[in-house]
Amino acid sequence: MSRVAVFGAGYVGLVTAACFADLGHEVVIADILPERIAALRAGEVPIYEPGLGGLLEQNRERLSYTLEVAEAVDGAEFLYVAVGTPPTYSGDADLSAVWTVVDSLAGATDPAVVVMKSTVPVGTGVKVRHRLDARGLQHIGYASNPEFTAEGTAVRDFQQPDRIVIGAFADADADAVAALHVGIDAPIVRADVASAEMIKLAANAALMTRISFINEIANVCEATGADVVRVAEGVGLDRRIGPSFLRAGIGYGGSCFPKDSLALKQLAANSGYHFQLLNAVIEVNELQKRRVIGKLQQRLGSLRGRRIALLGLAFKPNTDDIREAPSLVLAGRLVAEGADVRAWDPVARIDDVHGVRQVETIDEALAEIDAAVLVTEWPALHEVDWRLAASKAKAEEPVFVDGRNMLDPKLMRESGWAYEAIGRAAQ
Ligand code: UGA
Repeated sequence: MSRVAVFGAGYVGLVTAACFADLGHEVVIADILPERIAALRAGEVPIYEPGLGGLLEQNRERLSYTLEVAEAVDGAEFLYVAVGTPPTYSGDADLSAVWTVVDSLAGATDPAVVVMKSTVPVGTGVKVRHRLDARGLQHIGYASNPEFTAEGTAVRDFQQPDRIVIGAFADADADAVAALHVGIDAPIVRADVASAEMIKLAANAALMTRISFINEIANVCEATGADVVRVAEGVGLDRRIGPSFLRAGIGYGGSCFPKDSLALKQLAANSGYHFQLLNAVIEVNELQKRRVIGKLQQRLGSLRGRRIALLGLAFKPNTDDIREAPSLVLAGRLVAEGADVRAWDPVARIDDVHGVRQVETIDEALAEIDAAVLVTEWPALHEVDWRLAASKAKAEEPVFVDGRNMLDPKLMRESGWAYEAIGRAAQ
């Protein structure tokens, strides 16, 4: 069994740490936020991720938490970097947290492998290698081991991945990282460091492209009377295409896709290449979030003074994450149009959007409304008595825009709603 240090106690770091501890490794997690480390030591999980709390608890004996880099590095054979890489104003990834970790290794005397879990631009590995060498740290190896975990299913995605990607400069380092994953049944893709870095960016770009593709098909379905849900089913059954990531809706959000698309676009641009397709994918997504406003205006005319419920705020269900969530754009636009916005989510909060009133229950959100927008497909929305809800609305036939095609159009219309979905005929 190995000793693993994980830098960064965010979504990626905590899941990585918990899963490695579960495989039997000794794991120490380092972070710069004292309150985060204190919470973890007290047995609290600072983020909402199903299964993570249980896994941290079950493996308590093999997990420790520290604010001291030296303590984490001491005796560790693997130094996992799992810090944030947010976009900068230029669209490039901000690698300052990565460099802080790399620079803090200056005093490391024992051989170890730095393993990059954070999503970084292609070429980062080479730069880290140079910096390590410049500091006389030739005994520290380097590997890229990108993550493909999605929030809400991160623990399962880590434990049962489609593949494990390892890129290293030295075969021995790649072997060591592969050995660390013994117990996980998945093909291992060994690559050079640049290719491993690109696999991560390309995988996310492919998923985003599928979403923007199906969203554009949805928009054409609306104009031509086809139903995108049936279309996606029929298209997805083609084995060459497959059914995943063909759910039309109000666009993707989250901490990964928007940031990674910008980073890849910028990476290409910095190398003199205009990534036309990716630019279109990003633009389609931006427009898709705003189409809901047009749908509401078409039904209601001016939105000034209209009470509108936003149902679901997290960028997807089973997470409290609102980073780049479509709900933020929608809420901001609705407030700008003068609407009275009531927002509900079981775990996420959007306190920062000025003028939005967040309420605790779906009932409160739906009281006395002119319209409702289903933004995030939380399972609780299946439990709502929609007929009763329609009877409590202000409007006689309240408008319902189902931004995730979650509900049954026929039932919703029979329940008294002027129901519209994404890419499905209006009536
Ligand atoms: C995504 C990838 O799925 C992971 O493989 C990757 O590791 C991760 O980014 C990352 O780079 O760290 P995540 O952002 O957690 O994971 O969420 P997804 O489940 O992929 O959903 C992203 C967004 O796409 C959500 O807003 C979701 O509502 C939207 N989406 C997804 C659609 O609009 N349609 C679909 O068919 C699928």
